[in-house]
Amino acid sequence: MPSDSSSPASLPLANLSMSSSPTVDTTNFSRGVLSDALEGVGHTPLVQLSTLAKDQGLACNLIAKVDFLSVGGSTKDRIAKAMVLQAEKDGVLIPGKSVVIEPTSGNTGIGLAMACTLRGYQCIITMPVKMSLEKEATLRSMGAEVIRTPNEKAWNEVGSHIEVAERLCAAIPHAVILNQYTNRQNPLAHYLTTWPEINYSIQTSDLPRKTVDVFFAGAGTGGTIMGVSRGMKEAQTGTDDAAWNSGDHGFVVGVDPVGSILAQNGEGDISGYEVEGIGYDFIPEVLNPISPQIHHWVKSTDAISFEYARKAHKLEGLLVGGSSGSALSSACVWLKDTRPFPLGGYERFGSKKDVNVVILLADGVRNYLSKEWFLQRSTWGKSDLATQIGEILGPRDGEKVEKALPSPPDSDAEKAV
Ligand SMILES: Cc1ncc(COP(=O)(O)O)c(C=O)c1O
Repeated sequence: MPSDSSSPASLPLANLSMSSSPTVDTTNFSRGVLSDALEGVGHTPLVQLSTLAKDQGLACNLIAKVDFLSVGGSTKDRIAKAMVLQAEKDGVLIPGKSVVIEPTSGNTGIGLAMACTLRGYQCIITMPVKMSLEKEATLRSMGAEVIRTPNEKAWNEVGSHIEVAERLCAAIPHAVILNQYTNRQNPLAHYLTTWPEINYSIQTSDLPRKTVDVFFAGAGTGGTIMGVSRGMKEAQTGTDDAAWNSGDHGFVVGVDPVGSILAQNGEGDISGYEVEGIGYDFIPEVLNPISPQIHHWVKSTDAISFEYARKAHKLEGLLVGGSSGSALSSACVWLKDTRPFPLGGYERFGSKKDVNVVILLADGVRNYLSKEWFLQRSTWGKSDLATQIGEILGPRDGEKVEKALPSPPDSDAEKAV
């Protein structure tokens, strides 16, 4: 447990009383020793994306909430920890006895597997086939059992990840589904940790304005957007609903993939898409897509999501996953859009210096290293430097490796990367 005693802002490099010993800036060091990995959940930084903003021709501040730096690798660690700790308090989970089962797109599962291994529960994760091999391997490495289900099964059909979890829960003694789709701890975890962290970072920053003007997040269960929005509303408008609804004191935008029906409040066509973790074919109980907590929705496509994930890697050195690409691309496209507000956000936000736009980066590319979309984009094309190196070294054995990599993407959006 970290000590409460205040730490000095700098320490001598060596514990020697040498007058010439250099000092180390400890401002952003972690205090004390955490008692276990669960204590390392959250506590993620805000990072300004100045190069991306310039690349996009935006005057506002683009600011990333880098939640893939949470100890389990995603924003979903927060809810897994909160759901397990609350269930223990409620007597729903009994260490050494309970079996935690959860249908998930993987990241909630990883958070739960971590919590389960630390607190003494067995863990079973059900997830559709489309979710990455990396997630399955990570889950198994922490001791969880993983059951894959067909992608095309609707949420309420026999064989879906949700139905299989329910069937197992009914049959296995002491089994519990904490259920991220209905569990109040899901939005509450973001209200109590994600938003306060964002607010604290903004308040203690050097930015001239100390408010969040726009918040962008992809929606899956909707826990992130509902929880952060509630905290943002209370902090920036108090109980003044009219002020909040105007969007002048914080504007919240949800990102939903084409093929999902969250943005349309359950209406419209359902189809497949590659990005993992966002969108659904039903409205989870923790999400109210038409509540004033979400001012606006935008739809995202796979192509532009992966294009912007790659931009984050290349321009900002931030190793984000696909859904972070969805949030980033949606933010950039909307902030550049000159159509009347709220169809476009250029006039009101994108063109304005000192406006703070916070974008949640939910997980990292290390969840997707084996996926075509990542391998293609990261290995395709030759830079000027590579050509120069080729001229110096001539043909090498290594070239054979290059030929074995996936072929380049062929859509127009992707060619522009
Ligand atoms: C990678 C990724 N991005 C975004 C989300 C969406 O978060 P939420 O369920 O809070 O809406 C998830 C949820 O699992 C996710 O795994």
